[in-house]
Amino acid sequence: MTALTEVNLIGQDLSSFGKDFDRISVFINDTKKMDEIAEQIDKLTNGAFLRAINSKEFKEKTIGEILTLSFPGILKAKHLDIVKWTKLGIIDDARKAGVNLAKKFNNSRLLICLGSQKFSQDFLKGFLLRQYEFLNYKTNDSKTIGSVTLMLKDPKKFEKPLSEIKAIVDGVFFTRNLVNEPANILNTVEFSNRLQELSTLGIEVEILEETKLSELGMNALLGVGQGSANPSKVVVMSWKGSSKKTKPLALVGKGVVFDTGGISIKPAGGMEDMTMDMGGAAVVAGTMLALAKRKAKANVVGLVGLVENMPSSTAQRPGDIVKSMKGDTIEVINTDAEGRLVLSDLLWYAQERFEPAGIIDLATLTGAIIVALGYENAGVFSNDDELCNSLLNVANKENEGAWRMPLGPAYDKKLKSRLADIKNVGGRDASAITAAQFIQRFIKKDMPWIHIDIAGVAHTKSESTYAPAGATGWGVMSLNRLVSEKFENNI
Ligand code: BES
Ligand code: MN
Ligand code: ZN
Repeated sequence: MTALTEVNLIGQDLSSFGKDFDRISVFINDTKKMDEIAEQIDKLTNGAFLRAINSKEFKEKTIGEILTLSFPGILKAKHLDIVKWTKLGIIDDARKAGVNLAKKFNNSRLLICLGSQKFSQDFLKGFLLRQYEFLNYKTNDSKTIGSVTLMLKDPKKFEKPLSEIKAIVDGVFFTRNLVNEPANILNTVEFSNRLQELSTLGIEVEILEETKLSELGMNALLGVGQGSANPSKVVVMSWKGSSKKTKPLALVGKGVVFDTGGISIKPAGGMEDMTMDMGGAAVVAGTMLALAKRKAKANVVGLVGLVENMPSSTAQRPGDIVKSMKGDTIEVINTDAEGRLVLSDLLWYAQERFEPAGIIDLATLTGAIIVALGYENAGVFSNDDELCNSLLNVANKENEGAWRMPLGPAYDKKLKSRLADIKNVGGRDASAITAAQFIQRFIKKDMPWIHIDIAGVAHTKSESTYAPAGATGWGVMSLNRLVSEKFENNI
């Protein structure tokens, strides 16, 4: 599993340049004032450093871009990365600088002279997020393990922010690793095993097996998994970080470990991507991990429904009618619209058992949201303007694209079934919205709720801002920030 690179903190000590580093990075402000670090580097590079920063090539760079000098002068490190910076730097530029440096990192030993640069934390976050690689199944890749050393004016002061950044990045990586795993490895059993391990961080983990789910009446969820040899499971993760007995925030995730479509089977082309159909569950798990690692002073409960959607002689058929835990009957018109069936029972259970302060579900729910928003924004649906605006705001701060979509009774009408209370598809048009309407049927009146369709953002074919191609971990940072800004001030 891809893990976080080791990060060391040291003070400003010129003798460090003589140590065993492969790369050294320095930031150059537009003020052009040379400090003692810059002077020392210029000495060691026989003046190449000063020539470089005064060059046309460097002047043409934008903030966050890097000019690399290789084997300059008598500098022991092989490469000197000069990061273009400005005193007026903004958060995005700092992260971009981190991302650019991460692309050159290649698991080397890196010394980054940060001094007291503003936005050092964002720089580091960008760096750590982007140096992720998923190499579990590359057998002849003998990657060396790299390390990062930060040279700071006040290393002590950076310890707390560093541990917070590490908690968040660990959460993002946990999510990415789960999403990148193939379905023969990450089946429902293995997924629940990995979640069970979160108990070492102080999270209470409870695994509900099929008999229990059946007793609870979760027939909509169980119907989806009934064609698979892998058992369906619901995992409940509770983090009780607040000393008060405040109602928890509930995070609910779709965890379809593989979505063939079931009897309404999907076309072969691209079906391999459906290993990521547990992306919602992975975001919930990664967020729980981040909250626990940074000891968030909030009560948060995460619930995930782990099932596999397979065609077989025991599989659910189109036309089947199931009774949900809520009691509403559902006509299953299309077995490929399975995510909403899983969520319906999971959401009802979350509300009945926890009476949460608010509920946020995440799901790789529809191809239609990709048609609408591409791979840039998740689709956000909500019955509560305040909670929704808070989410859009934190997503904006974390650079995770999120765009609000409409709901309304006219869309809801399309789910009318001839035989049952509701049917699971509402036709081709606006089908990301009708999917959200379906889910809303299982949200109690006055329960603040957000549904996030992450089909386009959980996994991308080409690299995204903070991740290489594949799993992105979209949402962990936003949800972590939402908890910190909105649910943590009640100590
Ligand atoms: N898991 C898919 C949605 C999906 C599509 C996720 C592409 C990621 C990338 C979901 O279960 C599904 O199959 N949705 C159908 C619904 C339809 C049958 C109403 C879809 O979007 O086509
Ligand atoms: Mn499907
Ligand atoms: Zn699906």
